[in-house]
Amino acid sequence: MKKVALISGITGQDGAYLAKFLLKKNYIVHGIKRRSSTINTDRIDDIYEDRHSNKVNFFLHYGDVTDYSNIFNLIKNINPNEIYNLAAQSHVKVSFDTPIYTSNTNALGTLNFLEAIKTLNLKKIKFYQASTSEMFGNIKKKSISEKDKFNPVSPYGTSKLYSYWIVKNYRESYNIFASNGILFNHESPLRGETFVSRKITMNVAKRYHGYKEILYLGNIYSKRDWGHAADYVEGMWKMLQYKKSDDFILASNSTTTVKEFVNKAFSKIGINLTWKGKGIKEIAFDKKTKEIYVRIDKNYFRPNELNYLKGNASKAKKLLKWKQRYNLDKLIDEMVSKDIEKTI
Ligand code: NAP
Ligand code: GDD
Repeated sequence: MKKVALISGITGQDGAYLAKFLLKKNYIVHGIKRRSSTINTDRIDDIYEDRHSNKVNFFLHYGDVTDYSNIFNLIKNINPNEIYNLAAQSHVKVSFDTPIYTSNTNALGTLNFLEAIKTLNLKKIKFYQASTSEMFGNIKKKSISEKDKFNPVSPYGTSKLYSYWIVKNYRESYNIFASNGILFNHESPLRGETFVSRKITMNVAKRYHGYKEILYLGNIYSKRDWGHAADYVEGMWKMLQYKKSDDFILASNSTTTVKEFVNKAFSKIGINLTWKGKGIKEIAFDKKTKEIYVRIDKNYFRPNELNYLKGNASKAKKLLKWKQRYNLDKLIDEMVSKDIEKTI
């Protein structure tokens, strides 16, 4: 019998990588996608299967995690072995503009899944919750582990912390197999275009093709622990194959400033940037041509910033035998190359 997985957030970066990973593992995959006025399935078009053909392994259902009746009925009808709750308003800056929508989706959306599992009494279901390093906030630790305290500094981080705790509550109270994957930043060529990594690599690709577009950024001194989404979705799956539900960090245990990411990405197309100035006057230019490549725009700063992230994934490495295939250079290489291919 094939295993059946239900994924919320299937149209997002991780949903697309996870669906492809599970299909390769011979799962039947069901995804929940929101109705939108324009079709937004670009990331999964390559695995779409016409329902009318034989032996279909991939199904899409309309839904929204804030709609309990929808989530309840999908779980009841699909009866999955594994649920991956990846749906979220996942942009930290946007969460300051839309705190209520962000919380309804990121916090109550998770509760809708857990309540449905409890009410249907489907104890066989294993539930994965997309928790985040953003929950830690600015704690003074060089390398963050599962034992560290939470101190979120954004509506996004706070909404995700609710989900983290409700997963633990339902695990302990109702004996539901529910695990939190506390994932540090992970990127890929499928990363949303307004996250900093992709914004940078798309600009590099435009420069490669001769477009002279200045890259405007916010805080270039924050540090992030960046990995590749392909490695991280494998970790999600491993969490649900483990003998018991638990909470695991996935991270690369290295940290880099946004500025260094910019330098590395431009160096892939042979441009070595020089920086000068301070604060919003800081710029990056090419010494040879004097041309300006990067400027600072205060609109990209956040009301509150998480300055530093570096995670310790020893627990996942030891208990789940989780491994990473990508380091930061390989990740940036792939992102720049794919964006160069995509940009005309
Ligand atoms: P993403 O690309 O922004 O994808 C988010 C997905 O959630 C999209 O499919 C989106 O649908 C869907 N969604 C949003 N609101 C929804 C709602 N109310 N009902 C149903 N679906 C909804 O995010 P990602 O990078 O793949 O991240 C996946 C999950 O991991 C998120 O929960 C994120 O918060 C968490 N996470 C991500 C990272 C990271 O670095 N990528 C790190 C830690 C945790 P539309 O396409 O219709 O907008
Ligand atoms: N998005 C963006 N755009 N960020 C910028 C910019 C810009 O123009 N300029 C500087 N930054 C800085 C942000 O202030 C932040 O410190 C850093 O770049 C990374 O920003 P994002 O790429 O937007 O990611 P994030 O760290 O805020 O959030 C991502 O990682 C979390 C895990 O730590 C998201 O994927 C979250 O969903 C995820 O939980």
